[in-house]
Amino acid sequence: PHKAIKKICCIGAGYVGGPTCATIALKCPHIDVTIVDLNQARIDAWNSDNLPIYEPGLDEVVKTARNRNLFFSTDVDKAIIEADLIFVSVNTPTKKSGVGKGYAADLGYVESATRHIAKVATSDKIVVEKSTVPCRTAASMRKILEANGKAGLRFDILSNPEFLAEGTAVKDLDAPDRVLIGSLDTASGFAAASSLVDVYANWVPRERVITMNVWSSELSKLAANALLAQRISSINALSAICEATGADVDEVAYAVGLDSRIGPKFLKASVGFGGSCFQKDILNLVYLSESLHLPDVAEYWRQVVAMNESQKRRFTEHIISSLFNTITNKRIAVLGFAFKKDTGDTRESSAITIIKYLRAEQAKVAIYDPKVEESQIWFDLAEPGIVDDVTALKKQVSISSSAYEAAAGADAVVICTEWDEFKDTNLDYEKIYASMNKPAFIFDGRLILNQNKLEKIGFKVECIGRSR
Ligand code: NAD
Ligand code: UGA
Repeated sequence: PHKAIKKICCIGAGYVGGPTCATIALKCPHIDVTIVDLNQARIDAWNSDNLPIYEPGLDEVVKTARNRNLFFSTDVDKAIIEADLIFVSVNTPTKKSGVGKGYAADLGYVESATRHIAKVATSDKIVVEKSTVPCRTAASMRKILEANGKAGLRFDILSNPEFLAEGTAVKDLDAPDRVLIGSLDTASGFAAASSLVDVYANWVPRERVITMNVWSSELSKLAANALLAQRISSINALSAICEATGADVDEVAYAVGLDSRIGPKFLKASVGFGGSCFQKDILNLVYLSESLHLPDVAEYWRQVVAMNESQKRRFTEHIISSLFNTITNKRIAVLGFAFKKDTGDTRESSAITIIKYLRAEQAKVAIYDPKVEESQIWFDLAEPGIVDDVTALKKQVSISSSAYEAAAGADAVVICTEWDEFKDTNLDYEKIYASMNKPAFIFDGRLILNQNKLEKIGFKVECIGRSR
């Protein structure tokens, strides 16, 4: 016998907590879902017409369920007290100082949310790790809850990592490849897992909801991200060989992807992966391996991140050498600032690093992105703490309101994000060509352009993983 969940609280109204729990509310009208956060501005935005994150389809999900059985609030205590089940969906960034600096996950937010639950809970709770955490974090959470919770209360800890990708979050949540739930191998652990299985079973086919031990579940999340990122670094490593030999990386990816053991996905060569998680989670795995005295394993995974850094450097060096070894005072139009299309998220975006390299060469950079806010771009490019940097930055960098504006007077257009808007079927490249300095270069860092078509217009076209 296990408990039927009637009220859910989600701590953390970010990219994961918001869409995930909004979907649960949409699919389970009989369950009340309250998403809480300490950040008042973020909660206000969730309650407004202008949601704090851009995700295709999310507005509709939120509008349908909000104030029916979906609530956004900063009253963390009330939501915890009333809930049967609590998702902990707070951020777990890489540590910036202390032991494990630059590698280990900072679990400060997870710990403080856990302590908060222990402090205010007045009834039994199922506490679910939704955040991506190092293997064995559930044990720490349990110790904190047991040491600080009121006498006689039961806390069951589950691991339920999230696999959604930004830009397709609503689709991924609606029809996930799988939902993973890890629990302790005890009767109450199994009962808690069954309660959460029942929630997902409202819309996810039962065979796609899998259960396993809690440590496997925690590690599977890091493993999935490490393997996905490893594929991108592998194809990017091959792209360098293609550029030097005349092979074409898209053709190579197509040929190898037809092998059903390899498969076609996540083999698109690029300016390098970005996003808040791939690098963070691999470094986390590197740190875990080192803590377990497995230096060879650590080195293996570290190389995936090193390859990614090298790809961004190589791409920029190619821009500089193509432009006759100097880009000083040349206008370079950077199209795309988000880490991938269909999101306004810029965390760890390759564009940030590439622009940093271009600035170091004294180029004038004109940036256009269809979704990223101007203030976010300034924030990402400024070196924190250096006041003069902002003035210097604004002398070198400008933000344009269209691709045409960015390209006018430029020596080169550099595609950093694969927005559909930038495809040659959507932008008027004849107009862009006419407005640029000659020779007019295009560097396609995402392989979205028809090279022949653009060369016919007159462009010098340089693509990742291709040479002719
Ligand atoms: P985020 O920074 O967008 O959101 C986290 C939110 O938690 C913030 O709004 C913050 O104010 C809030 N918060 C922190 N401590 C709190 C506390 N004690 N009480 C209440 N609120 C608190 O982060 P995110 O991108 O949603 O990621 C959350 C977790 O999910 C991370 O562990 C991440 O690795 C993982 N993850 C992210 C993605 C993704 O696509 N972004 C996908 C899968 C997993
Ligand atoms: C990734 C995973 O895909 C999700 O399953 C996971 O839940 C999430 O991380 C997380 O843990 O945060 P996300 O980072 O949102 O999702 O987006 P991806 O589609 O994985 O793209 C990541 C980066 O890799 C982007 O910069 C993208 O442009 C790049 N990429 C992706 C490539 O360069 N080539 C590819 O073939 C695929």
